[in-house]
Amino acid sequence: MLLVGGGGGLVRRAIVAEFAPDWEIVSVHRHPIPNEAAAGVRWVAADVARVPRWDELLRGVDLVVNVAWLRSGGEREFAPLAEGLLRLIGAARESRPRFVHISVPDAPIELETGLPYLSHKRRVDRALLASDLPFLIVRPTLLFGPGDRLLTVMLRTMRRYRFFPVFGDGGYHVSPLASADLARIVRRELEGPPGRNLALGGPERWRYRDLTDRMFQLLGQRPRYWHLSEGGARRLTRTLERFGSSLLYEYEVVWLLSDMLGLPAYSGPALPLAPVGPFLEREAERLLRGTRGRTPPRPTAPGRDRRLE
Ligand SMILES: NC(=O)c1ccc[n+]([C@@H]2O[C@H](COP(=O)([O-])OP(=O)(O)OC[C@H]3O[C@@H](n4cnc5c(N)ncnc54)[C@H](OP(=O)(O)O)[C@@H]3O)[C@@H](O)[C@H]2O)c1
Repeated sequence: MLLVGGGGGLVRRAIVAEFAPDWEIVSVHRHPIPNEAAAGVRWVAADVARVPRWDELLRGVDLVVNVAWLRSGGEREFAPLAEGLLRLIGAARESRPRFVHISVPDAPIELETGLPYLSHKRRVDRALLASDLPFLIVRPTLLFGPGDRLLTVMLRTMRRYRFFPVFGDGGYHVSPLASADLARIVRRELEGPPGRNLALGGPERWRYRDLTDRMFQLLGQRPRYWHLSEGGARRLTRTLERFGSSLLYEYEVVWLLSDMLGLPAYSGPALPLAPVGPFLEREAERLLRGTRGRTPPRPTAPGRDRRLE
């Protein structure tokens, strides 16, 4: 397998854990990862945007899995990365490996057309859709797993500040999918017919505010919120971005509020899927163990809301 962009990310970790036991993996990414060789992965140090000869890397490869992307950036970052991936797709037309591309679900039109993160991602999606390669495009919604940068960061933030921001009325939905399940889905769906484009939701569709209430509860805290209007949330995340924070990006707020992330549950052969609850319990327990003795958890009581515009 040629793993493209298999740096230290959440999806990479899950793909390697799923495939390493019986696949030979060569991974193209930029930064070294501790114990990568021990996990059975051979690292080719390269920037996907600048690989001069994809055909050489594709020699003898049965399966390409692309996980390369960035969470933020502009034209300068995304255009060359997309060009590199388009060259890879072009080169793959010669040797015709199966080609898995991890993409993202549909987003509001404002993001689809105006945001380099998405407009360039869609160039890659479209190139594969138009190709005659045996491809599988998977477009998962919000992923969770050990070391993820969303739910575990949200728990840490709640624990640390005891308040959490909620955008709008919190009535939009998410259907979290375990990164390990994504990797299992990839493996099982590869056995099906090629040329598919799957949007993937996890087994439970949560109202966002119910999920954050549950997270507070698992931490033994009463839910306390700063209410932000959409405009206020966008201004806040824009300011955070300007100061170099990667906590949350403006486009992520817009996407969340569009209520397009509560995708229906995956219903294919890789069932059953893990619900998010037990994962949150484990993560909350880990956090509490780490801080026990310093700030004892308080019993859960009715929540408190603050409103900011
Ligand atoms: N996490 C989620 O909730 C989620 C949900 C839906 C879809 N996805 C998609 O799943 C894929 C992986 O997501 P993730 O959360 O695992 O992201 P991630 O942690 O940011 O991993 C992406 C990887 O791409 C590598 N990469 C980026 N630019 C590169 C370049 N020019 N050359 C080589 N490698 C490069 C990075 O490694 P280095 O920077 O170390 O090179 C990084 O390890 C992405 O396409 C993402 O859009 C993620």
